Parts: sequence; structure tokens; C-alpha cells
Amino acid sequence: MNKVIYATRTGNTKKLALAVAKGADADAQSVDEAGDISGVDTLFVGASVYAGKIDEKLRRFLGKLTPENVQRVAVFGSAMSGKSALAEIRALLSANGIAVSGKEFFCKGRFLLFNRNHPDAGDLANAETFAREMSGGR
Ligand SMILES: Cc1cc2nc3c(=O)[nH]c(=O)nc-3n(C[C@H](O)[C@H](O)[C@H](O)COP(=O)(O)O)c2cc1C
Repeated sequence: MNKVIYATRTGNTKKLALAVAKGADADAQSVDEAGDISGVDTLFVGASVYAGKIDEKLRRFLGKLTPENVQRVAVFGSAMSGKSALAEIRALLSANGIAVSGKEFFCKGRFLLFNRNHPDAGDLANAETFAREMSGGR
């Protein structure tokens, strides 16, 4: 079973999460509604960066994951500029012994007047393809 968990403040990551869920044949759930995770093959984690950090609720959620209930994690997300949120998640999970795929999906995300229209249709199609490939083309 695959699962998608995301944190969002302005809706960009939710858009990506729905595309990833389609590609992975999985449910997408906001971290606000996430319960205990168990028996997950690939957990897709969607995030953005806010003043240099990932969302605090997402950080707490990630801190509770164990290698016993998640086989591996794949990260995706957007930001105004860089991929630091994905790197932060990698570091956090690796420290807890959770395998994180080397493949990830990142695109620019709209913020104020920057990156207008992103994620756009092309970004969403690429996110879906990423998820399909990550989940063995099912
Ligand atoms: C309060 C706030 C702080 C942000 N800080 C950063 C930042 O430090 N670096 C960056 O590249 N983008 C920053 N952004 C831009 C977001 O990462 C980007 O818009 C992202 O696509 C938002 O995703 P979301 O709509 O799922 O929350 C910030 C956005 C907000 C709303």
C-alpha cells in the first residue's frame, strides 16, 4: 500500500499531492488529518519551506515514523527557490533509519508575485509520472 501525506499553507503542495496520489494509486491526506502510519510500502511526503524550514506539524509527524511501519519514503514539493525542505526531510528520516529514495520531485511554487501559475499543468503531469515510476508503474 502506498500513501501520500502533505503539508500546505497556500495550496501548492496539495495540488502536487493529488497528482502524486493519482500516479501512485494512493490516498492523499493532509498532515493535519494523518493518523498512525503502518504497513505502508512507499510513503510519499510533500512539503514546502517557510522561512527556511518545513512545517512544524509535518516535522512532528515525520519524527514518529519508524522503519517498521514505513518501508521507504519518497519526497516531493515546491518552493519559491530551492529544495531545502526536501533535504531537511531526508536528514530527519535518515537519522531515524528510514530509507528515503534518491529520486524526488521538485518544482517552483507560487509565492506572492514569484513563479506565477506554478505548479502548472506540466508540473502536475511530471509529479504524477514521478509517482507512477516510484511505485513500479502500477
Ligand atoms: C510564510 C511563507 C514563508 C516562505 N518562505 C520561503 C523560504 O524561506 N524559501 C523559499 O524558497 N520559499 C518560501 N516560501 C514559498 C513557498 O515555499 C512556496 O510558495 C510553496 O510553493 C508553498 O507551498 P504551499 O502552498 O503548499 O504552502 C514561503 C511561503 C510562505 C507562505
